[in-house]
Amino acid sequence: MKMLNIANGPQNVSAIIQGCMRMPDLSKEKAAEVIRTAYECGVNFFDHATCYGGNGVAETRFGEAFPLTGLKREDVVIQSKCGLCFDRNEFDWSKETILSSVDDSLRRLNVDYLDTLLLHRPDVLFEPEEVAEAFDILEQAGKVRFFGVSNLMPMQIELLKKYVKQPLHINQLQLSLEQSQLIDQALYMNNKTTDFSVNRDGSALDYCRLHDITIQAWSPLQHGMFGGTFIDNPDFPELNKALAELAEREGVTKAAIALAWILRHPAKMQVIIGTMDPAHIREACAAADVTLSHHDWYALYLAAGKFLP
Ligand SMILES: NC(=O)c1ccc[n+]([C@@H]2O[C@H](COP(=O)([O-])OP(=O)(O)OC[C@H]3O[C@@H](n4cnc5c(N)ncnc54)[C@H](OP(=O)(O)O)[C@@H]3O)[C@@H](O)[C@H]2O)c1
Repeated sequence: MKMLNIANGPQNVSAIIQGCMRMPDLSKEKAAEVIRTAYECGVNFFDHATCYGGNGVAETRFGEAFPLTGLKREDVVIQSKCGLCFDRNEFDWSKETILSSVDDSLRRLNVDYLDTLLLHRPDVLFEPEEVAEAFDILEQAGKVRFFGVSNLMPMQIELLKKYVKQPLHINQLQLSLEQSQLIDQALYMNNKTTDFSVNRDGSALDYCRLHDITIQAWSPLQHGMFGGTFIDNPDFPELNKALAELAEREGVTKAAIALAWILRHPAKMQVIIGTMDPAHIREACAAADVTLSHHDWYALYLAAGKFLP
């Protein structure tokens, strides 16, 4: 497994993260198999959120399953996210919600601390001073070691940074070969003949590189928001053909090549896989051993439906 050090954050973490959003439907034995398989493949980083499964069911399942794995708490990096309150149809970064969310996550996960806490999606009514107070309390109580954000624009991060004293070391963002807006806007810049040039995120990719913020790419095999996977999907024939050719050359699966495409980017991102199938986890982790060439990277990007301006 390729390992990374996150600037101002956790060290020696796996480039591939096991996402737990799809864990709620598993039995605790199956969930333990997922955790164990990922760990045996070199994954030491697990991603959660208070909303996964509705009211934290993914965290509960992980908390029940972890003791069955034989792993120790310090063997793994456990991350959760807060602020997305589907139960009340709002996003909420108030101090009370951040503090109570972390307490709930710790109880459900059955751990004393989170390695990292991310603010999940922007609460556009957020008061940065309140976030700062909450982070101070959580840090002083030893409940959270490191802090970050998810789905945040650079200027929102700047606003937070004016008040929050802890480094914000992670921004979790959507990126796949099919959902590559993070990359497209820079390539097509100033081109009014294509929608690819629309800057939808305030140049988040370059901002994160500039400020040593590690990007964690979510839904790396999905098309659309949650449209399903493009792997083996007849709607993406060119992409599957290009993935298959490189998969055969490298002796891995098409999914592994799609993940290697993200890992090849010089921003040194982590990629969060969501599969709950142990065979797919093993296949996905082979991505960390594949280094695509500069030409391979562009060939896949073009096969995903882009063109060179
Ligand atoms: N910050 C955010 O806003 C945000 C949003 C969404 C997700 N996330 C995080 O990102 C993680 C990953 O998201 P995701 O689950 O959408 O990611 P994904 O890895 O792109 O998608 C996983 C899905 O693709 C399926 N799949 C089909 N063929 C596959 C193959 N050959 N190899 C692997 N998977 C295959 C999986 O099914 P099988 O289980 O049958 O393999 C699973 O249903 C989540 O768990 C969560 O931690 C964050």
